[in-house]
Amino acid sequence: MMIGLHLGGFALIVFLDLCRATDVTVTVSSTASHAIPTTLWGLTFEASNDVNHVRFNSGDGGLYGELLKNRAFQKVTPNTPEALDGWHSIGGAGLTVIADTTPVSPSLPNSLQVTFPSGKILPVGFGNEGYFGGIKVDTTATYSVSFFYRFPTASSFRGNAVVGMQTSTGLSLGSTTVAISGAQTTWLQVIATFRQVQAPFNNNNFFSITLDGTAAAGQTVNFAMLSLAPPLTFGNAAVRVDIGAVLTELQPGFLRFPGGKNLGNSIADRWQWNATVGALVNRPGRMGSYGYVNTDGLGLFELLTICEDLGAKPIMAVYSGLSLDGEAVPEADILPYIQQAIDQINFAIGPTTTVQGAQRATLGHSAPFALNWVEIGNEDFMSSDTYLARWQDFVTILSQKFPQLRFIASSNVNNPILAPDPTHWDVHMFQTPSWFAQNSMYYDGFQRNGTMYLEGEYAATTSNDGGSGPAPLTFPTVESALGEAAFMTGIERNSDIVFGAAYSPLLNNVGSSQQSPSLIGFDIDSVYRSTSFYVQKLFSTNRPVSYVPSTIPDPNGSVFWSVGTTANPAHLFKVVNIGNTPVNVTFVLPFTVASGTITVLTGSPTVSNSPSSPSAVVPVATTTTLAATRSWVYVAPPFSLSIMRV
Ligand SMILES: *[C@@H]1O[C@H](CO)[C@@H](O)[C@H](O)[C@H]1NC(C)=O
Ligand SMILES: *[C@@H]1O[C@H](CO)[C@@H](O)[C@H](O)[C@H]1NC(C)=O
Ligand SMILES: *[C@@H]1O[C@H](CO)[C@@H](O)[C@H](O)[C@H]1NC(C)=O
Ligand SMILES: *[C@@H]1O[C@H](CO)[C@@H](O)[C@H](O)[C@H]1NC(C)=O
Repeated sequence: MMIGLHLGGFALIVFLDLCRATDVTVTVSSTASHAIPTTLWGLTFEASNDVNHVRFNSGDGGLYGELLKNRAFQKVTPNTPEALDGWHSIGGAGLTVIADTTPVSPSLPNSLQVTFPSGKILPVGFGNEGYFGGIKVDTTATYSVSFFYRFPTASSFRGNAVVGMQTSTGLSLGSTTVAISGAQTTWLQVIATFRQVQAPFNNNNFFSITLDGTAAAGQTVNFAMLSLAPPLTFGNAAVRVDIGAVLTELQPGFLRFPGGKNLGNSIADRWQWNATVGALVNRPGRMGSYGYVNTDGLGLFELLTICEDLGAKPIMAVYSGLSLDGEAVPEADILPYIQQAIDQINFAIGPTTTVQGAQRATLGHSAPFALNWVEIGNEDFMSSDTYLARWQDFVTILSQKFPQLRFIASSNVNNPILAPDPTHWDVHMFQTPSWFAQNSMYYDGFQRNGTMYLEGEYAATTSNDGGSGPAPLTFPTVESALGEAAFMTGIERNSDIVFGAAYSPLLNNVGSSQQSPSLIGFDIDSVYRSTSFYVQKLFSTNRPVSYVPSTIPDPNGSVFWSVGTTANPAHLFKVVNIGNTPVNVTFVLPFTVASGTITVLTGSPTVSNSPSSPSAVVPVATTTTLAATRSWVYVAPPFSLSIMRV
């Protein structure tokens, strides 16, 4: 049926869908049923989420603050144009990525060989365009540069390299000079800092290292492991400041890492913790799961540190012998992989008497990280037959070694039946908005017997089926975010057995999307908070201490709710209306409520926050005064999430 509905002054023509939009009465219990875990709303981090073999993603070129692309020529084929991805010649220098006869480290076999031709009077050298085909420059920041160089053949050259940032037209924005000596035939690390003295015109800037063209004529110099970092913000993690700030806004209870799919495409290319820790020069990099090389600059230590900086509990995955290409390590060969998992866990929590615990201490963190949960693999329902044995072997050995940890199974719950019986399961859901609303009862029927569940990845990834099938979404919409919100009221109700839930994917470069929608978008300039971001933030920053039971919503209805108390003391009511008409929700309360704040997220169902319209839908808070009442009618606006703190 088509009706005209007046909504906030503008007329909206809508189709009434099949869900029931009758007014509801919610009778609230006088006693809380359970504490809500502080970990309930968290984040899942995939090191990468990208397309087209361009390396700008949520790790490199995204969350990780490194500004140079292809900084260490990791996993590229020497002597090919592709190996120079991100780099260009300045003033006629010859550039080749070579397999160095004396590499800077066993992990980094390649270096950039630069030849300086004769007859040049201008500066000669090379530049890096950054991850976005340009580098955004902050005139208030101090930049740190590091690189290694050596002369393959000793020479009498003595001079200064100019290291800095230039505009696309070659105007210097800021630089410093470092001494370069032709006598240096072994690798020398140069560390320098500089500030930008000139405000940039735009983001079309590049990093450069140049020598005086006349003085350097005829020289050949090898460079390796070049890095340009903005100021460190999150401990040692070199996180991009604006993305880190948006993650902080979510006040996440946990961070799940390093994947997800990032655990590996193949056995050989699996994520290995030991290749991601220590000096950058010792990190070989890896062909990642999304078709391009990962620097592994955002390694295990950085991820654990980010957890501390965010106040989030780590949920750390170990590679369980299954890769995305479907190849599984045979049980007979599994022990070295279990040993590598033991080493990984010891790096996180082992005493400093273990090799790996001592390694953590040398990085400045002698105390163990606050690790409680370890996930055995990722989405092992993709090979559940082989998981039977792999689960048994991993969990038996790891729980003997680490009785204090809880191990999470990643296959489908009880399909197949695993032994030992998992105490924790990770459940992933990618569905339509209405599926999420109708499945907000998903966990209601589960046994309360100590078995716990994680929603490690979920998202409404399409529109509802408007007749021609669900349409994939580029950005979360109001409709998709409200489907998730309805589901999340059910997660709050079931948070006696669900200890965590995370939207996935977390981060996405808006210009280069491999999997959409994502919670947070970003480009060279900005970070974009989606409608789903605001739903996550409203739940996370309004997480009650205790859950208070109330009338169970109709799963086929249009209104969903949950009630809780905080320590303030205050009562928290969340109401989601996925329908197109206002609904009167009458709360019948065993206590009185008076004044408070009501925050509402609402908009037309197809609207998204996107780069062209980043704040199309944002929460709006108002204060409310109620005549101290035990029967309170809240009119839930169409297509809305309301949080009432009274
Ligand atoms: C990491 O450790 C494994 C053994 O567990 C070893 O095979 C591999 O070479 C190591 N990688 C690096 C980069 O040290
Ligand atoms: C708890 O219930 C789940 C679901 O029915 C079952 O798989 C599991 O074995 C039970 N756990 C215990 C400890 O009884
Ligand atoms: C919801 O709708 C489905 C299918 O339309 C039906 O099978 C189910 O019984 C309904 N549930 C309730 C609680 O009304
Ligand atoms: C819904 O609530 C509004 C305001 O409290 C009231 O005017 C209206 O009559 C109610 N509608 C129904 C159907 O109860």
